[in-house]
Amino acid sequence: MTRHFLNTQDWTRAELDAVLAQAARFKRSPAGDALKGKSIALVFFNPSLRTRTSFELGAFQLGGHAVVLQPGKDAWPIEFDLGTVMDGETEEHIAEVAKVLSRYVDMIGVRAFPKFVDWSVDRQDRVLQGFAKYATVPVVNMETITHPCQELAHVLALQERFGTTDLRGKKYVLTWTYHPKALNTAVANSALTIATRMGMDVTLLCPTPEYVLDERYMGWAAANVAESGGSLRVSHDIDSAYAGADVVYAKSWGALPYFGDWAREKPIRDEYRHFIVDEAKMARTNHGVFSHCLPLRRNVKATDAVMDSPDCIAIEEAENRLHVQKAVMVALARHHDGRDSGLGIGDS
Ligand code: CP
Repeated sequence: MTRHFLNTQDWTRAELDAVLAQAARFKRSPAGDALKGKSIALVFFNPSLRTRTSFELGAFQLGGHAVVLQPGKDAWPIEFDLGTVMDGETEEHIAEVAKVLSRYVDMIGVRAFPKFVDWSVDRQDRVLQGFAKYATVPVVNMETITHPCQELAHVLALQERFGTTDLRGKKYVLTWTYHPKALNTAVANSALTIATRMGMDVTLLCPTPEYVLDERYMGWAAANVAESGGSLRVSHDIDSAYAGADVVYAKSWGALPYFGDWAREKPIRDEYRHFIVDEAKMARTNHGVFSHCLPLRRNVKATDAVMDSPDCIAIEEAENRLHVQKAVMVALARHHDGRDSGLGIGDS
């Protein structure tokens, strides 16, 4: 059975811990031949700085090779609907694309953001699921409606900063921040998922109930809390949410009730520019660390002082993308080859 890395929630805690441990080893010793002769197609439907660079270099540093494809730009536009008469813009169907790539490469990474028109459609994650359905090699989510690679990089950065792999009991605030555009909920969904999985006491801080995340991810978080012994609460009060926090993680996202009708959401969002992460808010924390997935608009989402503070671990988190993705690629490739991954990943 082909294992994919579509969401951390699909992997056991032991599997995630093993990947994190391997990532820490790769950080200490970056070069090797664990992916010698292996290749990965990196399919980007959206821009990237960190993801593309870290996947390409990660494959290279372990003796593998990455091929970047941008459908609609340097590769043919792809159709994902079934039964469609393809007389429009798309030139080939995902059924052929995924099968053909599977004959060439050992893994396929996919970045496909929502189209931001209809959340009931976007929440199906059809591009990623289409690749997973038709590919005969492992598929890696490089950010669609979740961002599992970012989750692991984030956790590794927290483990490093706190000097322990056990993050249980840390007070974790996931705060919405203003942004001039309505953005993807992927990183917020992911942060909520992994923070609860790691047993932290999590507060989702957002302006109004309309900014609460999709029920799927709220449900995952609730299930994780039940298993991990952490906690989850939603707050709209900045002062109480920041009080005593060990971790502040910032992200902006669009309110799901207004999905595709951003003109209606914009005046609401515009009222909450004060959700910016600044020194005054961070002063309420327990000498807390700050992070963000990047890219980040300075002095919109977080101030220069917060970004330049020694308590900001966003650069460590970005670096860790390289290490965790190497560990994920090695685990998937070894499992697909029928070899012991050494990372404890098995059939689920
Ligand atoms: N955080 C992240 O995925 O960065 P990029 O969008 O630059 O890849």
